[in-house]
Amino acid sequence: MDIPVVTSGGARIPVIGLGTWDLRGRICARAVEQALRMGYRHIDTAEMYGNEHEVGEGLRASGIRRDDVFITTKVWPDHLAPAAFERATKESLVRLRLSEVDLLLIHWPNPRIPLAETIGALCRMKQVGFARHIGISNFTVPLVEEVMRLATEPLVTNQIEWHPYLDQSKVVAACRRHGLSVTAYSPIARGRAGNDAQLRRIGMHHHKTAGQVSLRFLIQEGAIVIPRTSRRERLEENIAIFDFELDPAEIDEIREFAHPRGRVVDWAGAPNWD
Ligand SMILES: NC(=O)c1ccc[n+]([C@@H]2O[C@H](COP(=O)([O-])OP(=O)(O)OC[C@H]3O[C@@H](n4cnc5c(N)ncnc54)[C@H](OP(=O)(O)O)[C@@H]3O)[C@@H](O)[C@H]2O)c1
Repeated sequence: MDIPVVTSGGARIPVIGLGTWDLRGRICARAVEQALRMGYRHIDTAEMYGNEHEVGEGLRASGIRRDDVFITTKVWPDHLAPAAFERATKESLVRLRLSEVDLLLIHWPNPRIPLAETIGALCRMKQVGFARHIGISNFTVPLVEEVMRLATEPLVTNQIEWHPYLDQSKVVAACRRHGLSVTAYSPIARGRAGNDAQLRRIGMHHHKTAGQVSLRFLIQEGAIVIPRTSRRERLEENIAIFDFELDPAEIDEIREFAHPRGRVVDWAGAPNWD
């Protein structure tokens, strides 16, 4: 099965990827290998996850051609000054054993470092060939506007928390205005959506699970999704979302789930800049 792609700024990004936060060691390498063998073509990692070495191992063990897989990594906010940014990128490539990644993201903005300097460094990583494409993560509407003024190379995605319990329509609209795709992280709300009785009921009409409904909802809203699991049966489950469609009434029903305290990723757990 060919995975559909979202195109943005010259990039062709598979609409589903494997998230790898918290997957470590052999479990991570095996999950990446299994996912690629069953048809995934997009893997999401970060220097902060401490698993780039294992992601690279899983990629090579899968036997899938390097050019057929879309690999994203991210630079941690402590490393956003230009010299540190380049060092961090090179170290990620060494751990992954790759000459370039498909997508390099700023993991979180860092208000202590001028955004112009960071964006300059990010764009340079593309110019020197360390990244085929570049983007941002956890950027709010004002930061999206600012970054679009500063960037001299196309940005292709803003990776943000997005699932049925969170209304991200404002930042999504800002991204759309600038032709930026949106990648939804925590698309199963860290497991919560998988246990949701209402999503389960909607899924029953389509012979699908609640987790699949959550992912399908986001894809129909235009997102790229990167669910994480290390379990083989869930890897299979999460990718089996291209043979059904939620109808407009179901989409509207799921949009109603959102509420102001819907985040599952603690922003307080993000680096403290004060
Ligand atoms: N840019 C950022 O700042 C940022 C922040 C957070 C996450 N991310 C990225 O986004 C990825 C995904 O987000 P996440 O890991 O936070 O959360 P998630 O993918 O929403 O949820 C993962 C959890 O849901 C469970 N799960 C997976 N598939 C399921 C299904 N079909 N039904 C029920 N439960 C299911 C998993 O358990 P099992 O393992 O037991 O299956 C795991 O506990 C991360 O791994 C990371 O790559 C990026």
